[in-house]
Amino acid sequence: MIQLPQKVAVGSAHGKLILVGEHAVVYDRPAIAIPFPLIKVKATIQEIYGSIRIESEFFHGPIHSLPEKLQGIAICILETLTALNKPRTGLLIRLRSTIPLGRGLGSSAAIAIALVRSLYTFYGGEVRQTELMALVHLAELHAHGNPSGIDMAAVSSECPILFQKGKSPNPLQIGAPLHLVVADSGRIGDTHAAVTSVRERYILNPARIQASLDRIGWIAKDSRAALSLGNMELLGKLLNFAQDELIELGVSDKGINKLIDVARKAGAMGAKLTGGGRGGCVLAIASSQAHSKVLANAFLKVGALQTWNFSLEGMR
Ligand code: PMV
Repeated sequence: MIQLPQKVAVGSAHGKLILVGEHAVVYDRPAIAIPFPLIKVKATIQEIYGSIRIESEFFHGPIHSLPEKLQGIAICILETLTALNKPRTGLLIRLRSTIPLGRGLGSSAAIAIALVRSLYTFYGGEVRQTELMALVHLAELHAHGNPSGIDMAAVSSECPILFQKGKSPNPLQIGAPLHLVVADSGRIGDTHAAVTSVRERYILNPARIQASLDRIGWIAKDSRAALSLGNMELLGKLLNFAQDELIELGVSDKGINKLIDVARKAGAMGAKLTGGGRGGCVLAIASSQAHSKVLANAFLKVGALQTWNFSLEGMR
């Protein structure tokens, strides 16, 4: 492989948190997602001789050797080159990410967004949001099976959004600072499997699951109002109700429930899993930045792999 001393282009994307509404959003209920700028993916493009190569923590080699699980990345790169009318060859693509994989923090969507942005920048083009979403959707179809689209909307947004499938995301107002603590259980969750398991429950017991999905939808709507009013105590209670519904849907597990219990005992205003569940991360609302540190320590004490303290300032 001979590297040519030529132009380099960079594209990036941040992670995301689903505040409320995961799983129900697949069934057209509204959900709230928040950009999570503490974790990021950066894609760097450079010209080389030969075929397209990828260098990352999880894969090194030519694009055609990407394993089945990562085929979404190959599809995204190749379809972006087709959209740009450029040859599917002669590129070195480096991926660097601080978004842990499979934790419900948007890693697959952020990788795809960073790739599309970097390729457009490399060829001097500007990608429109609709094009970006269409290309990233191809990668997400592979990663998730039946994605609602909330991940790619959230990782490409600079503000919190109310998301509903098939509609343009609505930017949200926040009436007071929101202090969040995110804890990584250290266990990889399989969103594809979790979404499939909810579908199976739905088929077995449609009335019961439908009712649970409806309640999550109402909780998401009330959470929007609580956020806008800056009533974080109410928001916390709503997140706790949402967690009960996620248990009902079968996507929480013992380890996640334990982290949530610890957060509540340490005074969290509310706590729930975030993302697909069955592993992955939980989020908790703290009453202040100082309280965030208390919650983070409580999580670490019971074995969380890592935590992030994150405050969203009030914005109108
Ligand atoms: O990618 P995750 O694990 O954050 O899950 C996305 C949210 C789900 O509602 C579970 C799936 C979807 O496509 O909306």
